[in-house]
Amino acid sequence: MAIFSFLTPVLAAVICVLIVIILQSRKKSKASSAQSNKNNNIKQESRPWVDEDLQDNTDIVADEDGKDDWQDEEEENLQHVPFTVVRYPEMEMVNRSKEFFELLNQRRSVRFISNEPVPREVINNIIRAAGTSPSGAHTEPWTFVVVEDPETKHKIREIIEEEEEINYHKRMGEKWVNDLRKLRTNWVKEYLDTAPFLILIFKQVYGLHSDNRKKTHYYNEISVSIACGILLAAIQNVGLVTVTTTPLNCGPRLRVLLERPVNEKLLMLLPVGYPSKDATVPDLKRKPLEDIMVVV
Ligand SMILES: Cc1cc2nc3c(=O)[nH]c(=O)nc-3n(C[C@H](O)[C@H](O)[C@H](O)COP(=O)(O)O)c2cc1C
Repeated sequence: MAIFSFLTPVLAAVICVLIVIILQSRKKSKASSAQSNKNNNIKQESRPWVDEDLQDNTDIVADEDGKDDWQDEEEENLQHVPFTVVRYPEMEMVNRSKEFFELLNQRRSVRFISNEPVPREVINNIIRAAGTSPSGAHTEPWTFVVVEDPETKHKIREIIEEEEEINYHKRMGEKWVNDLRKLRTNWVKEYLDTAPFLILIFKQVYGLHSDNRKKTHYYNEISVSIACGILLAAIQNVGLVTVTTTPLNCGPRLRVLLERPVNEKLLMLLPVGYPSKDATVPDLKRKPLEDIMVVV
């Protein structure tokens, strides 16, 4: 008993020391994670291709604590229905996969687009196709703005050329401008006037419930990028051309021009039409399968 009564204060002291050590090591790890966040921010600051307008905490929950953002009961009780796919014989699968590859392998970024009209129905259908994209928690966080009005197209061109001239001279830096030299691009974008349609793809960084509560759009940038990939394939499928463009730092001005709400950020602009008669493309080669695929 005497030993126990002697040990009790010693044990208490040992426990106290352990608690202090644990608390201090937690403090240290918090400080080091804050430091690494800071370092990440510093790294991000030196990435000129990250559009100012896209640095928007894309994947934050809509409301600070996320409490008001829960889905409605009706959505929660969504019915699940049977699903089947069309099954092709293996030979047909091989042929279809080859034909699809050959179709997409002809896709090129074309920067010379004719003013020949394109049926509006085609544009509707290719955007319908893009809208079939998967999205984080099925939030469908995209808006496709189709511009066909010549005056609006010209205003878009003016904004983009003004910003791109600054981009090429100041924002992009020598290395980036040099890397682009082989593509012979600059800030003059005639296709913004000539293409019969401009499709501006906005990502919704959050959505709105019917009662105006904010709704979290999980992985919205990845979701919209997948939709854009499908759109590019759909454009190729109908024999039209485009060039994937990401006009740096034009987002806010274009959003205001097109009267889009603040939760929408410009991700991509695609001019769509037929190639002009004298269109050329850089003679780029694509990596072969063995350089892009690893089988484990
Ligand atoms: C995310 C992304 C951004 C791009 N931004 C531009 C752009 O702003 N202007 C441009 O002329 N091309 C742009 N491109 C097109 C690339 O230069 C082009 O895809 C690349 O040179 C390969 O050529 P290809 O599309 O003909 O295969 C972009 C492509 C991607 C994927």
